[in-house]
Amino acid sequence: MMLHIKSPYKKSSSLSNCCGLNVYIKLDNVQPSGSFKMRGIGHLCSKFAETGASKFVCSSGGNAGLAAAYAARELGKPCQIFTPESTPKFIVQNLRDYGAEVIVEGEAWDESNTRAKKEAEKPGCVYVSPFDHPDIWEGNSTIIDEIKEDVDRCSSLPKPDLIICVCGGGGLLCGIVHGLKKHSWNDIPVLVVETEGASSLYQSVKADKLVTLPAITSIAKTLGAKTVGKQTFEVTKTHKVVSHIVSDADAVKAIALFLDDERILVEPSCAAALAAVYNGTLKKLIESGELPSNIKNVAIEICGGSGIKLDMLEKWKKEFSV
Ligand SMILES: Cc1ncc(COP(=O)(O)O)c(C=O)c1O
Repeated sequence: MMLHIKSPYKKSSSLSNCCGLNVYIKLDNVQPSGSFKMRGIGHLCSKFAETGASKFVCSSGGNAGLAAAYAARELGKPCQIFTPESTPKFIVQNLRDYGAEVIVEGEAWDESNTRAKKEAEKPGCVYVSPFDHPDIWEGNSTIIDEIKEDVDRCSSLPKPDLIICVCGGGGLLCGIVHGLKKHSWNDIPVLVVETEGASSLYQSVKADKLVTLPAITSIAKTLGAKTVGKQTFEVTKTHKVVSHIVSDADAVKAIALFLDDERILVEPSCAAALAAVYNGTLKKLIESGELPSNIKNVAIEICGGSGIKLDMLEKWKKEFSV
């Protein structure tokens, strides 16, 4: 059962004008659960349901949890979500509204995850990882399937020369690279952006080994996996992946600019990808040769996210003097 929807893919005039390239946005903020997570988690949960799982157990206080809870409701299965204390109350309520049982436990995601994994050992239960499963990557690869389909069908839509996405645990990146390989688009590099205080991939690429961050200090909490998945790190070796970081302040600026430009409100986790265009990072990476000089058409994955409200944006704007 397919639980995600085909999302719009369109040119953004404001982002294009900002960097002098053709920038296209893949609008996964419109997914039923509010983020791209619907694709991978939806696919994983459907597969689990087909093989007779009787209950889903997930450990995300964010968009993966919302996708799991939505999927469980659609598939008629009970769902238990372990969330850290940092999860906003309105998200806990959203999860309960989908019919999930929510257990708030642990200061950070890692602790909730340990509890979820233990609970999932019970008969009939399955553990729904937020990012680390081949079926999640398969589901997330539909982002590229859809861009390819649109490019093939519409002569005014060019093949992208670059994909920009963000990285938490890396399910999104693994899915995008899987999709590029599936369609023999191996020549398209990926620019992966994280915020400074959630830079587990950036630090791992720099050290050339998997690095575990001591803490997540960014406001982009949904990028906050202290260690990326093993496969995520592997992917940076088998595909042209350029890893970069932006500040929380630039992510907040990007939320505000994107809201004005496109009238779409996204989480800081998603805005990190937009910040790389708005703050000139993309241009600099092309000029310095870290990204190919022939890049003209850029696709940005707008992964979305439900953990944002106007008053949160206002508070961050004050905090970061934006
Ligand atoms: C809105 C949003 N964007 C990006 C990510 C990062 O995804 P991944 O963990 O697959 O790298 C998340 C993860 O929760 C998210 O919620």
